[in-house]
Amino acid sequence: MTAMKLSTSLTSQTVQNGVREVGINPNHWYPVGWASQFKPGEVLPVVVWQQAIAVYRDFQGQIHALEDACPHKGIALHKGKVQGCHLACAYHGWEFDGNGQCVSIPYLPEDQKLPRAQARSYPVQEKYGLIWIFPGEPALAVASQPPLISEFEQPDWLMVPVTAHFQAHFSICNENTMDVFHGFLHQKLQGWFDPVLINLQETEAAVCAEYNVSYKGRMAQFLGLSDRADQVTTLPISIQYRYPHYASSLQGVSSLYLMRLPVGPTESRSFALFFFKINLPQSLLRPLKPLLSTLIQRFVLRKFLAQDIEMIESEQQTYLANPQRRYVEINPAIIAIQRLVVRQYQQFIQSTGQPDHKGRNSENVTSSEARSGQTEPTQEHSIR
Ligand code: FES
Ligand SMILES: [Fe+2]
Repeated sequence: MTAMKLSTSLTSQTVQNGVREVGINPNHWYPVGWASQFKPGEVLPVVVWQQAIAVYRDFQGQIHALEDACPHKGIALHKGKVQGCHLACAYHGWEFDGNGQCVSIPYLPEDQKLPRAQARSYPVQEKYGLIWIFPGEPALAVASQPPLISEFEQPDWLMVPVTAHFQAHFSICNENTMDVFHGFLHQKLQGWFDPVLINLQETEAAVCAEYNVSYKGRMAQFLGLSDRADQVTTLPISIQYRYPHYASSLQGVSSLYLMRLPVGPTESRSFALFFFKINLPQSLLRPLKPLLSTLIQRFVLRKFLAQDIEMIESEQQTYLANPQRRYVEINPAIIAIQRLVVRQYQQFIQSTGQPDHKGRNSENVTSSEARSGQTEPTQEHSIR
């Protein structure tokens, strides 16, 4: 599928409720935590789409990720402790190396052979201050990489990391990020207004939308969005969803990289990196960075986020109360990312040849849902 330009008109389209229960394509890198949370000699439990994983940093600083279940009796390995480069299970002290191979049993006589016992290990890496795990087919890990964040190494950007936790399916969270038409929600925080979708493109693995949005007020001025607080500034914002993460940029003023961690059918996390161009000389900005970053996180981004989380979780609750309820969507960018999320899952299921979560095999999915996911949605009536 090459890049395809889609219509930007706001037209009523049918939402396929199946998107609220779709699984992930695990053949991508997913963030599981900030690198600073993983101290040498410590082990923490994480979950990537219902897979419990014990992540530990050895005393040499190296990160390892093992299935969170001891091959001996299934005790969660994150209850264990780091010994040198190995992880020792809490129960009988069996020791596993970074590949999950059992390398020692403390009570085994020296002349006895170790049993073959192996915990699954996951490709793991540290990048952009985050720990990333590849939960899919390990052979595919090298070819796929975490998103490129070019601002990360550039000193003229102020970086603000923000973490969020949602009791909602990742599709609902993703749609919130793509949905620029909800400035209404953030009115009191002096968010944006008058959004217009001006461009929409879809490729095999990405949806890219461009909107024009307007700003005014002191917040916008502080963030460099407008020169004066009492004047309206209109800027193009581009939002790219490259499965399974987001990259968004507001023309040289700010960027957002939002990395999604689907935890389970109604639980998701996000690890976001915001970058702001602050109009201050480097010598002033450098010492101010930690303070500014904390202030923006606490007094700006957290407030926006709290409003979004309330909406996202309400949407999930209503869905769960009646999964047959019908919804009306008019933003073609939302329909496009729903299509992409479903397609990525179907492609993964087809690649394994296994039955999907409803117990059907890939052929059934191909014939029914793949079509409804890939053909143009029915256009019911035009709003504009
Ligand atoms: S259960 Fe892990 S060592 Fe026995
Ligand atoms: Fe929002």
